[in-house]
Amino acid sequence: MTLVITSACVDVKDGICTTSCPVDCIYEGERMYYIHPTECIECGMCESICPVDAIRYDDEVDGDEQPFVALNDAAFRDSDGTLTEPGGWKKGDAPIKDPPDLATCFQPKKERV
Ligand code: F3S
Repeated sequence: MTLVITSACVDVKDGICTTSCPVDCIYEGERMYYIHPTECIECGMCESICPVDAIRYDDEVDGDEQPFVALNDAAFRDSDGTLTEPGGWKKGDAPIKDPPDLATCFQPKKERV
């Protein structure tokens, strides 16, 4: 189990969650932040601090948000699928690339059917 960031973060990127993480496992991406699946120690400190309620334990993610579980993991995979372990995010680091699947996973709420 790990925590994951879901669609509410996309294009919001408040960033306050990073201040609560004791292991710096929340990384800035281009359009959203991502939680590293193995660096996360599952403390849950970030879950309640997000102003748009974007953070969930992976086994509590609702149906239409399920692709974001894989997306948080995919953000840290290199081109051959190996999970990279950057070792901790800090403010000022260049954003990591969003996985290509973000574009298909994310639809603004007003456009959802
Ligand atoms: Fe995103 Fe919420 Fe963190 S908007 S950057 S998950 S505080």
